[in-house]
Amino acid sequence: MIADVDNDAIVYLNGEYIRLADARISVLDRGFIFGDGIYDVVPAYAGRPFRMAEHLDRLERSLKSISINVDMERADWEALVTDMLHRSGLGDCMVYIQVTRGVAKRDHAFPKNVSPTVFCMVAPFDRPTATERDQGLSAVSLTDVRWLRCEIKSISLLGNVLAKQAAVDAGVDEVVQFRDGYLTEGASSNMWVARNGVLLAPPRDNLILEGIRYSLLEALCVQTDVPFEARAISREEVATADEIMMTSATREVLPITQFDGKPVGDGQPGTVYRKLRAAYDQRIKDLEQA
Ligand code: PDD
Repeated sequence: MIADVDNDAIVYLNGEYIRLADARISVLDRGFIFGDGIYDVVPAYAGRPFRMAEHLDRLERSLKSISINVDMERADWEALVTDMLHRSGLGDCMVYIQVTRGVAKRDHAFPKNVSPTVFCMVAPFDRPTATERDQGLSAVSLTDVRWLRCEIKSISLLGNVLAKQAAVDAGVDEVVQFRDGYLTEGASSNMWVARNGVLLAPPRDNLILEGIRYSLLEALCVQTDVPFEARAISREEVATADEIMMTSATREVLPITQFDGKPVGDGQPGTVYRKLRAAYDQRIKDLEQA
């Protein structure tokens, strides 16, 4: 039995639907041995996937970027997500998909003739609370010491794990990472800054994971008349920002109102956040009512 999870939940492992507590992989799986694999997290509301096409585009990009060939077409991935959601019977939840290079003798180079391990589970997620939305979160700055391929949604997450633990140890909700004095992202979220009414985002490059909410927020900016600019953002610009916010599949969009122990702007969620939040909520409502 595994603590704090639904051991009876049905998971998908290599073509089979089985109980979570019964799912087994080999100790020689390259995901276990090397962290050699990728994943994605698709949020769902009222049991309906949110931006599934974009998440599956990224999943396929991730697979291609590390040369894993899975015998699954786009329609198969879509069927897996909808099937898993249906079986789970959950409303607000996330579909986690992980693919590793498979099971082979331990040897760093890619093995020949192995089948990738494909795993999928669905877990409930709590949407951000009213307090989190209305009062905001706290964060501290952290030097980004991760590798230079952060654009790959890799399961090798040690850097992110250590970053998140640094937040826990500091008694805050998230870290804001900087590389060479410029903003990258959170431990498991993208970071955004508002200055003079303009929403700023770090460039889409190898130093961040481009969240599915990156393009979404860009589109919501157009919709809500918020100017948007993607460019390098200095530590000083973050420290003196009017607003800081973060996005992720499970945290949606949330304001950061305390940064390095000081209030961000006036310490309240700002106007850019409020506009984007309202537009984001509307997208979810549209999905729930579709
Ligand atoms: N993490 N950057 C990092 C390093 C992340 O781990 C995530 C998401 C994001 C935001 O991406 P998206 O908007 O597509 O969720 C950015 C997921 C939720 C996780 O690891 O659980």
